[in-house]
Amino acid sequence: MGKKVLVVGQGGREHALVWKLSQSPQVDKIYAAPGNPGIAQLAECVAISASDVQGLLNFALEKKIDLTIVGPEDPLMRGIVDLFQSEGLKVFGPSSQAARLEGSKVFSKDLMHKYQIPTAAYQVFDEAQAAAQFACSFTDRGQPVVIKADGLAAGKGVIIATTSQEARRAVDEIMTERVFGDAGQKIVVEEFLQGEEVSVFALSDGLKAVTLVAAQDHKRVFDNDEGPNTGGMGAYTHPPVYTSELHELVDRVILQATVQAMAKEGCPYRGVLYAGLMITEDGPKVLEYNARFGDPETQVIMPILEGDVLPLFEAVAAGDLSSTEVKVRKDFSVCVVLASGGYPGKYAKGFPIKGLEDLAATTLVFHAGTALQDGQLVTDGGRVMALVTQAESLQDALNNVYDQINKVEFANMHYRTDIGQRALNRGR
Ligand code: AMP
Ligand code: GLY
Repeated sequence: MGKKVLVVGQGGREHALVWKLSQSPQVDKIYAAPGNPGIAQLAECVAISASDVQGLLNFALEKKIDLTIVGPEDPLMRGIVDLFQSEGLKVFGPSSQAARLEGSKVFSKDLMHKYQIPTAAYQVFDEAQAAAQFACSFTDRGQPVVIKADGLAAGKGVIIATTSQEARRAVDEIMTERVFGDAGQKIVVEEFLQGEEVSVFALSDGLKAVTLVAAQDHKRVFDNDEGPNTGGMGAYTHPPVYTSELHELVDRVILQATVQAMAKEGCPYRGVLYAGLMITEDGPKVLEYNARFGDPETQVIMPILEGDVLPLFEAVAAGDLSSTEVKVRKDFSVCVVLASGGYPGKYAKGFPIKGLEDLAATTLVFHAGTALQDGQLVTDGGRVMALVTQAESLQDALNNVYDQINKVEFANMHYRTDIGQRALNRGR
């Protein structure tokens, strides 16, 4: 009998996961909680929030779900994996203890320090004055400094300060004013690293990491990396800066070292390990770990992953990847996010989305913030949807995707026109 899977989440990442799972010959039925209108074309969406872990458990028990795949970090931190496993359910994602790699910057920095995994030099503080003093020791020397809230802060808990005034302000906001709540009880103050950023995605069964692929995200809202940080405005695979020699090093000193360190600490890491790296002149260093797939990186990774993804996720959940093979195509896969004008600040929604029916069949559309209103697809979030294409060359893939974007329309649509440009410039 075919298997029933549940995908937790509602973004473009989850749409890409559902899309890939829908091609599995072993999968009979996909549920998504809560899903979105794009996902609803491939799966049955159920109105349970991704953070309602008890509600998700009840649903999974009732439907006898064979495997649950957790998209976002929030349910991981809430212990969804521990809870499901205690009820004998199979689930793809790290335990809450293992998810501290993402959930606590103090935990992850201390782990890296203890196991000599390359990362920026840092100190941890639980008191504002000492933190500010240390931070200013960088800015007083004319160096920028990075100030990070320990806990999750919706992607906003990292502040790069270039003057002592900015550094003090950042420490005050996080520790004294507690703008991120308890996430700011402790802070990490660290050295500013220079270089190019790469995200590396690996699956881990608790013993070993098996790399999927590297990708590059574009976090700033405007072209040329200007404007505020967003969840991610676009991505592409196989960034040229990430050579195979570099990967050999990263695999050994970062990915395998992290998985081994977690096992030694008594919290084996099972799930997708997303290492955010800075490729510096002194080699690759970890900026942060995430305990989940990236968004929008997943939208570019899933289309070039060969074969059935279900056995991979099952092997991770079972803690044994030794007999599974990961194959990723060499194609460049690119994704451009279409956002609501104003995002990541205030934006209006409810605008009709037009032109999707005119897109080439090879263009993938992954929904994020969309809704159906009286049968009409409308905008319903900051990041509305992503268009994704693949080609043998990055330039072709980009030409394709931007050609297709010209056909899509909604009021106040905003997107970056320079996705992948850094890689193209390198080759020139
Ligand atoms: P994080 O959440 O730790 O990845 O930080 C978010 C973003 O801040 C990263 O993607 C980097 O662009 C930047 N960042 C974090 N730490 C550093 C650092 N030590 N040096 C330079 N940039 C950093
Ligand atoms: N693409 C950034 C993230 O998923 O955190």
